[in-house]
Amino acid sequence: MEELLKVKDLKTYFYTYEGVVKALEGINLDIYKGESLGLVGETGCGKSVTALSIMRLIQWPPGKIIDGEIILDGKDLLKIPEEEMRKIRGSDISMIFQEPMSSLNPVFTIGSQISEAITLHQEVDKKEAEKRSLDMLDLVGMPDAEKVMKQYPHELSGGMQQRAMIAMALSCKPKLLIADEPTTALDVTVQAQILDLIQKVNKEIDSSMLLITHDLGVVAQVCSRVAVMYAGYIVEIGTAKQIFKNPYHPYTKGLMHAIPKIHVETKRLEVIRGVVPNLITPPSGCRFHPRCDHMMDVCKKKAPPTVKVEEGHYVACFLHGGVK
Ligand SMILES: Nc1ncnc2c1ncn2[C@@H]1O[C@H](COP(=O)(O)OP(=O)(O)O)[C@@H](O)[C@H]1O
Ligand SMILES: [Mg+2]
Repeated sequence: MEELLKVKDLKTYFYTYEGVVKALEGINLDIYKGESLGLVGETGCGKSVTALSIMRLIQWPPGKIIDGEIILDGKDLLKIPEEEMRKIRGSDISMIFQEPMSSLNPVFTIGSQISEAITLHQEVDKKEAEKRSLDMLDLVGMPDAEKVMKQYPHELSGGMQQRAMIAMALSCKPKLLIADEPTTALDVTVQAQILDLIQKVNKEIDSSMLLITHDLGVVAQVCSRVAVMYAGYIVEIGTAKQIFKNPYHPYTKGLMHAIPKIHVETKRLEVIRGVVPNLITPPSGCRFHPRCDHMMDVCKKKAPPTVKVEEGHYVACFLHGGVK
């Protein structure tokens, strides 16, 4: 498979009054052309910081990418001027958020916002941009798209705002779509519809996707590969089949047990004991060690290296390799 994006040893820190938040501590991941990679982990593990770092939207102060490479189609995004990055945002990479109003502007009509996004990045006149906006709204299943073109965001329901945001994000046919918890705020039926939709449109325009979620059910439905994140590290990455059928990392196993199983009577959902640590004073060695049932001495002392456990499947845990 051909690689679209490569993230190498990425470190992002936040310099706060309480101390330095080491949010990303050297993460590595690849996204191939046409695939969708799921990024999972509990709240506070660094998923959104990963997305914002790739978009180069980490605000200074307090945040800063302090090391690493983000290579899109052979170009290191951390080495180009902000102006060039601005062009890449919304043309090569676009992002959708949990909260649609964070990318929709309340004072402009839906039609003018999508058209503007199109004319900003493509050489088309206003009329053509409007036509494409309408097509996009149709593609995302917006009922009465012509009317919606003239409406303001607040006139739409949450689900419809979400569709409008997706239409806007996909209107310039990005090579990579980053979706950060795109359906978390929606009710279950709308969630399923929106997920189907993102998948369908993504296939249609043949782009890759980084789908961020804390919901493994969503990943199972949509993604071909999965990266599991814990406290600033990617602890396991592999195909969805490998991760679901044969998880290696105790954290991944814990996340699996926490998925509610339909039709299976469970007395109590097994959750991983403890909580995600604050990343100002994270645990030494493997950051998961205080919550791990298989903790060994070495886990407190050294961060485990990432090792290959089978083709395309990597894990960072001393139970499965690394010099103890
Ligand atoms: N602007 C910020 N200032 C300080 N710390 C931040 C900021 N943004 C994120 N963090 C910290 O970075 C870590 C990762 O956060 P985040 O990426 O939002 O987690 P997730 O998206 O996985 O829930 C958390 O410890 C969070 O408190
Ligand atoms: Mg988040």
